[in-house]
Amino acid sequence: MQIPSTVLTLPEAASTPIGAEVYRGLTDMPKHLSPWLFYDERGSQLFEAITRLPEYYLTRTEHGIFARNADEILEYAGCLPLTIVELGAGTAEKTGLLLQAAVRRQSRVDYVPIDVSETALDAAKQHLEAEIPGVRVAARVADYTQGIAEIPSPGRRRMVLYIGSSIGNFEPADGVRVLREVRRRLVPGDLLLLGVDHVKDAPTLLRAYDDEAGVTAEFNKNMLTRINRELGANFNTRLFRHRAKWNAEQSRIEIYLDSVIAQRVSIPALDLEVKFARGEAIHTESSYKFTPESIGAIIERAGFAVTQSWTDERDWFGVYLAASR
Ligand code: AVJ
Repeated sequence: MQIPSTVLTLPEAASTPIGAEVYRGLTDMPKHLSPWLFYDERGSQLFEAITRLPEYYLTRTEHGIFARNADEILEYAGCLPLTIVELGAGTAEKTGLLLQAAVRRQSRVDYVPIDVSETALDAAKQHLEAEIPGVRVAARVADYTQGIAEIPSPGRRRMVLYIGSSIGNFEPADGVRVLREVRRRLVPGDLLLLGVDHVKDAPTLLRAYDDEAGVTAEFNKNMLTRINRELGANFNTRLFRHRAKWNAEQSRIEIYLDSVIAQRVSIPALDLEVKFARGEAIHTESSYKFTPESIGAIIERAGFAVTQSWTDERDWFGVYLAASR
């Protein structure tokens, strides 16, 4: 039997990426929203603020690993010249250390940062070309999926950077898929440099995702503010509470927005009213934590072979260099 098409027709907003995501996530049980929704302009600023928090050791620790080992990383990368491509580059703060090491060896280096934020890429180009003579920046505005298609085609050896534990937002099987997509764009001998957060004691992990100053809580709630602005919803952010949980079985931090009271929220652009029970949660992010074995298995399944890895003195963060097979 044919279902009348009018029954299935959703408002136009539901076919935009944000509309589709919000509709799917808030009509699902349990409720969820995808972490890419964090990164509007305000969300990107709040994430920058997170990276400077005393509790958020990730950025600082990875920066330290690059500061100490950039020359060695470039040595292991082998023969020159190398083009450096970065997925989700942002302002490319940590990458400067690698680019400096690269120009020490090959005097000129092409750097291709890929990011959704044109503002961030402009800032990256400005400061890198001013501070590191020999760097030529050719930025591409794209999200990570298109970004992969943007990886320049063969000619020179390429090193693709996927750092900052960005892969941690994916379920392991999806992480393998993402890296396979990267791999498909590369030729044997091209390189992947992956930065991931390591498993550690639960209190340290929890503090990093539930800081004293409440910046992560604000970052999390900003997703609701964005939905209010872009879909005309009426979320009251004071009626939701930020919560972080360590899921040891799945080796991931989970963050949620819990409804403080029983309430209804309307989302006019989706022609949707969402009911929340008191204490009901929206799962907004999973941030996977790895061991050298667990990330090694993902890298290998994606068609790369781990060449070398670097960590800090506490073994809190890992940088993995792998060659495309
Ligand atoms: C950008 C995905 C690496 O998982 O640590 C920070 C995002 N979420 N605090 C992370 C995030 C809450 C971050 N990544």
